[in-house]
Amino acid sequence: MLPSEQMKSPACQHLLIFILSQFVTAFCLFAYIRLSTDTGPQLLSRQPSGLTTQPGNNPTPTQAGSQLTILRWTWPFQQPTALRKCSELLGIRDCHITANHSWYLKADAVIVHHKDVCSSPKKLLQGPRPPSQRWIWFNLESPTHSPNLGSMDNLFNLTMSYRRDSDIFTPYGGLEVLSQPQNFSIPAKSKLVAWAVSNWNPASRRVQYYEELKKYLHVDIYGKHHMPLPQNKQVSTLSQYKFYLAFENSLHEDYITEKLWSNALGSWAVPVVCGPPRENYERFLPPDAFIHINDFPSAQGLAQHLLELDKDPVRYQRYFQWRTWLKPSERPFWALHFCKACRVLQVTETYQTLPGLSKWFR
Ligand SMILES: *[C@@H]1O[C@H](CO)[C@@H](O)[C@H](O)[C@H]1NC(C)=O
Ligand SMILES: *[C@@H]1O[C@H](CO)[C@@H](O)[C@H](O)[C@H]1NC(C)=O
Ligand SMILES: *[C@@H]1O[C@H](CO)[C@@H](O)[C@H](O)[C@H]1NC(C)=O
Repeated sequence: MLPSEQMKSPACQHLLIFILSQFVTAFCLFAYIRLSTDTGPQLLSRQPSGLTTQPGNNPTPTQAGSQLTILRWTWPFQQPTALRKCSELLGIRDCHITANHSWYLKADAVIVHHKDVCSSPKKLLQGPRPPSQRWIWFNLESPTHSPNLGSMDNLFNLTMSYRRDSDIFTPYGGLEVLSQPQNFSIPAKSKLVAWAVSNWNPASRRVQYYEELKKYLHVDIYGKHHMPLPQNKQVSTLSQYKFYLAFENSLHEDYITEKLWSNALGSWAVPVVCGPPRENYERFLPPDAFIHINDFPSAQGLAQHLLELDKDPVRYQRYFQWRTWLKPSERPFWALHFCKACRVLQVTETYQTLPGLSKWFR
């Protein structure tokens, strides 16, 4: 439904629906966040199709008092990342998380980051595997940008990705429910639309959409071959814009990246999203926290909507209403992911082999 259609309903009816929807969303998000942060095993009951669970003789993942050792086969993207104690991050028993390969035979689990091994699966250990050791396939890229998936079949026991049906669900971001409503002020806005893009592919859907959009409205572009946007200037730069084009590089279910979480929401710019359908975004965000390009029949319609909002501060501010009760999570990215793996390993009683990883992940 077009937002502009909703706007035509009588004001108080609209307000009532709005309040109700805020309440329902806050409640759902709260329930959802609890589910995804507190109860690892429930995620496991939603198994990806194409995977088989094998009744194991329970390789004692939770021996009381013993600390699990998790070996990170590589640093993600070969970049050392800071770790944090999982007891502090998630309030769980700590795991011993190491990147030191000498621990291989003693490790309860090995996390393999797809991008770092896919060019040559020989980079994976070829020797015998300790019988109860679990291998975890970790990937945050979309299937379109995950080469060599077939070589990962028949090797892994658990999946760790941005997909909600992963054994270890590691989305790019999330919202936290505040303990009490907060007063907030929207940063001063002097500019209209920004987009930061590093991989400019003229044939891509997002660039084609932009080419159409720019006929009706000006977009400031940052990134390679465009205006520079250093990491430490990101928030101060993007927060001057009313809107940010959070256009994903490929369209896949749940593939909603830092373009939304960090570039747009983290900078208080209203996200204009291009990615999976609106319903998918609404599993992560309140419906009135973003604008979806599919809300409009054409780029012209979207441009018209943005230009209208530009002149109507009251309507524009509605895109921030959700911040009364919710805020984007600021927990450390990689450290949180590894602690989620720690938590799932501590509570998982069953294990799987993944013969059809490449069938599932596409
Ligand atoms: C790796 O672990 C082994 C065994 O605990 C230890 O002897 C070695 O010093 C470690 N290497 C590094 C680089 O920390
Ligand atoms: C993990 O998967 C591998 C490869 O399919 C399998 O050989 C092994 O038995 C599984 N291990 C566990 C602990 O499930
Ligand atoms: C928020 O603003 C209202 C009205 O200005 C004020 O009464 C209230 O104390 C404020 N709450 C916080 C947490 O600052």
